[in-house]
Amino acid sequence: MSKIAIIGGTGVSNMPGMTLSHREMVKTIYGAPSSPLIHGSINDCDVIFLARHGGRHTIPPHMVNYRANIKALSEIGVTHVIALAAVGGIADECVDQSIVIPDQIIDYTYERSHTFHGAKHDKFEHIDFTEPYSAHIRKQLITVAGSLNLPLVPQGVYGATQGPRLETAAEIRRMENDGCTIVGMTGMPEASLARELGIEYACCAMVVNRAPGKVDTGISFSDIEKNLKGGVAHVQKLITQVLAKGL
Ligand code: HPA
Repeated sequence: MSKIAIIGGTGVSNMPGMTLSHREMVKTIYGAPSSPLIHGSINDCDVIFLARHGGRHTIPPHMVNYRANIKALSEIGVTHVIALAAVGGIADECVDQSIVIPDQIIDYTYERSHTFHGAKHDKFEHIDFTEPYSAHIRKQLITVAGSLNLPLVPQGVYGATQGPRLETAAEIRRMENDGCTIVGMTGMPEASLARELGIEYACCAMVVNRAPGKVDTGISFSDIEKNLKGGVAHVQKLITQVLAKGL
């Protein structure tokens, strides 16, 4: 039996369309997660919601306690995670408000607690991370997004940067040369921590701006707000249907 959680990112501090049943405070050996775990349902389908940046959006990407978040979800028996993320589009096809379901990651982050291993004398295990995202969840997201006619990019390479500043144009050129098609600040170590604990995990990315250097006009934060609203509307439809079909 699957137990599904949504991790909400920028612009998604509570899950639109979700009926709340109760909040659960969980404390892990890594500390408290970013927010209480919100239990509830969307169209009668059970789901758990966690606000990655906190309920009031006060935790920047490099300060998120990724270990506590993933550990808390694992401790309450979550088996599947759909991680929402606002991203910049690097590839031409990753236009504003499109939904990208990445299949690969390149990690440019640093100084983040990125593993559950490392306690003295603990036995450690390597994980296979060749395919960083759950093929099963990705397939469901892609199929449903297609059936809903959402502006979908069914694969992509998520370049995870440290933030909280946006990237320079040269950094984006380097990332593009590396093969990145989208850029965001929270994709790692969340994905690999989920893999370490055996949680099926996939990312549903909303493009809220063209990546730095990709447009002559520069970054417009008011456009980002607007695109975020459009992206969240798409994601709400997508998640509702994915939950209805089941994982
Ligand atoms: N860069 C990094 N993270 C982001 C961006 C971006 O352009 N847009 C939204 N999150």
